[in-house]
Amino acid sequence: MFAVGLARKQEGLVDFELKKPEIKGPKDVLVRVLQAGIDGTDRDMIQRGQKDIGEGEDFIVLGHEAVGRVEEVGRGVRNVKPGDIVVPTVRRGCGQCASCLDKGSDMCSTGLYKERGIHKLHGYFTEYFVDEEQYLVVVPPGLEEVAVLAEPMSIAEKAMGQVRHIQARLPWGCFHPEHSFDRPGWGACKKALVIGAGPIGFFGAALLRLADMVTYFIEIVPETALKVRRMQEMEAQYIDGRGITPESLVKRMGNPDIVFEASGASELALGLLPVGARNGAFVFTGIPRGQSQVCMDGDLLLRQMVRLNQIIIGSINSNRRHFEAALQNMVEIDKRFDNVLHRVITHSFALKDYRDAFAPIPDSLKVIFQVDEGAQAI
Ligand code: BGC
Ligand code: ZN
Repeated sequence: MFAVGLARKQEGLVDFELKKPEIKGPKDVLVRVLQAGIDGTDRDMIQRGQKDIGEGEDFIVLGHEAVGRVEEVGRGVRNVKPGDIVVPTVRRGCGQCASCLDKGSDMCSTGLYKERGIHKLHGYFTEYFVDEEQYLVVVPPGLEEVAVLAEPMSIAEKAMGQVRHIQARLPWGCFHPEHSFDRPGWGACKKALVIGAGPIGFFGAALLRLADMVTYFIEIVPETALKVRRMQEMEAQYIDGRGITPESLVKRMGNPDIVFEASGASELALGLLPVGARNGAFVFTGIPRGQSQVCMDGDLLLRQMVRLNQIIIGSINSNRRHFEAALQNMVEIDKRFDNVLHRVITHSFALKDYRDAFAPIPDSLKVIFQVDEGAQAI
């Protein structure tokens, strides 16, 4: 079968011809990949020549966002059956720490985890993969066409889950008991700022809007850009990030209760720390890979954070529960915002055209591989 990834002895993205994998253990499931998404992590690994290849191997198949169809199951498999449409999770726990042993490998405390398509394990830019049923989440009917978005959505779910968990310190939040952090409308009476309108920013905004939060977003592309329009379709409000200052931002929207960082633009993100509202939360999800020297008033920053009870959270990866929540909320987002998720996938390529798929594509939002050509109708 055809696969795309990085090889120890070759430069850049390459393709391989691999043997179709087989079921080995009783809990194993063989999955036919239907679609696989491309994201910033893939582009980064290619650009930086970061080859996180498993021990004893000469290559890694990339790709960590996928949807597939179950073809065959081991004799001990209970929760999926041939024909089911499933989404695989990314991380495989260390098997040692309390978090990993309790289905929370996104919070692994040893750092000895592996990640499919990223860190030591083969990913999904290929035709088939085998994994245990515990790592496969069944897609609800009707969501098949957009289920490839479940992984990036799960990243936003995890980040927002962290915010809600920590902000449960404010059970009274506002005067409306129905807006407390454990209720669906928890965002009403609050304001959020999303930095970046790429897929993670989009999903962060989608969750904020689903929770009825007044949501603004900063982008440095013109208002006519497709990703800006997608955000506006969820009634998130555009702020041009070019030349923005903390003062001009506050003038425009007031002080945000939640800042959801999804751009990795460290200077911008750190520069906006002093604008947070009282009891506000910042959650960082973008991963900058370069270096930046940021000059800021440290006293002001600490003073603000202490006096205003603020918190900063970093959030990475997601576990099975976040995928399940992601799929549920994706149904709601499409219902509420006129099927907006169906307009997030802007470009689709055959796997063999991987070089075109990875070339810069102007005005794109989510680029995917249509791996199974016969599966257009999923
Ligand atoms: C993935 C995460 C993963 C991270 C690792 C992201 O693109 O969505 O699941 O943990 O990369 O760098
Ligand atoms: Zn662990």
